[in-house]
Amino acid sequence: MSAAMKVHVSAIRKVAPTIKEFTLTPVDGEFFPFSPGSHIVVEMQADSKTIRNAYSLLSDPMDNRQYRIAVRLQPESRGGSDFMHQEVHEGDELTITPPNNLFSPDWRAKKHVFFAGGVGITPFMSYIPEMLRRGADFELHYMYRSTQTGAYVEALRNLIGERLHTYDSITSSRAEIADIMAHCPQGTHLYICGPESLIDTVRYRGQQTGWPASHIHYEAFAAPKPGKPFVAELKKSGKTIYVPEDQSLLEALEANEVEIPNLCRGGVCGQCMSPVLDGDIEHRDEFLSEKEKSGNRCIMPCVSRAKSSRLHLDI
Ligand code: FES
Repeated sequence: MSAAMKVHVSAIRKVAPTIKEFTLTPVDGEFFPFSPGSHIVVEMQADSKTIRNAYSLLSDPMDNRQYRIAVRLQPESRGGSDFMHQEVHEGDELTITPPNNLFSPDWRAKKHVFFAGGVGITPFMSYIPEMLRRGADFELHYMYRSTQTGAYVEALRNLIGERLHTYDSITSSRAEIADIMAHCPQGTHLYICGPESLIDTVRYRGQQTGWPASHIHYEAFAAPKPGKPFVAELKKSGKTIYVPEDQSLLEALEANEVEIPNLCRGGVCGQCMSPVLDGDIEHRDEFLSEKEKSGNRCIMPCVSRAKSSRLHLDI
C-alpha cells in the first residue's frame, strides 16, 4: 500500500446497533490535515488475505490529533467489516493510507443539500463543521433504520437543529426526494452518500428534471461484490494470477506484488484503469462510459471482473 502509515486504535465505541466508530491516533508524529469529504484506506489481514477498504473520515478536518471512521457490520461481509468489528481492539495498530478526497463540497454552491443513507452519514460529519465555520447554507436529509443504523442523530440534532431532517424506516417515515429537490433554489448542489438505490434515485430525478450533472455529487464505498473466479494473465510482468470469487482483481494483483495506482477502490475515480488485451470484462464501475465499456479494452480492477475464465492484461 503506497505511503502507508501506522496508527493506534485509541478508542472504539458502538454508535448504532450495527455501526462501530474507531478513533485512530498517530504512532509517530502528526496526522496530515484533510479536507471535508476525505477518506482513508484501511489495510486488514483477514483469513490469510489482505483486504483494503476505504472509509470516510468523520472527524472535524481542523482536528489533526485524530482521525475517526465508522464501520457498518455488513451482512454479506467479504471479511473487512467482520474484521473491523471482531478482530480490532483498543490499543491495536492498523495500517492506513493518508487521506484522499473524491467527495469535497463545491464551495461555489448557493446551497448544499445532503442525502445520507445509513452509514453514508460519515462524509457529512466532516462537512458540517466546515459548513458552520463558513456560514454556508445547507440541510441534511438522513435516512436510516434505527434497529440497525442511525448513528449520531442526537449529536447532529444538537449541532444543526432544524437543518437536520431524519427518516427512520422503522416508523415508515420516508424522504420525498422529488419534493425536496423541487424546493431547492437555483444554484443548489446535491450530495449523496449511501446505498446505490438512494444514489440512483437522486441522479435519475436530477436527469429527469434538468439538474446540471455538475451539481450532483455522490460517493459510495461499497466493497467489491464477489463474482466468478478467473485467471488474469499479465503480459508485461509475465505473471499468471488466480482471482478467487471473494477477492477483487485489484486485491489479487496487490497480493502478487503488482502495484496499481488507486484511490477510491470503488469504481469511481478512474485511477486503477488497466488495459485489457483479451477476454470478456464484466464492467461494474461508474467511471467508464458505455462506449468505453463496450470497447472491452480497459478494466477498473478495483470492482470489475472477467466474464470469461481468463483475462489478458497489458500490465
Ligand atoms: S481505484 Fe478508483 S476506480 Fe478503481
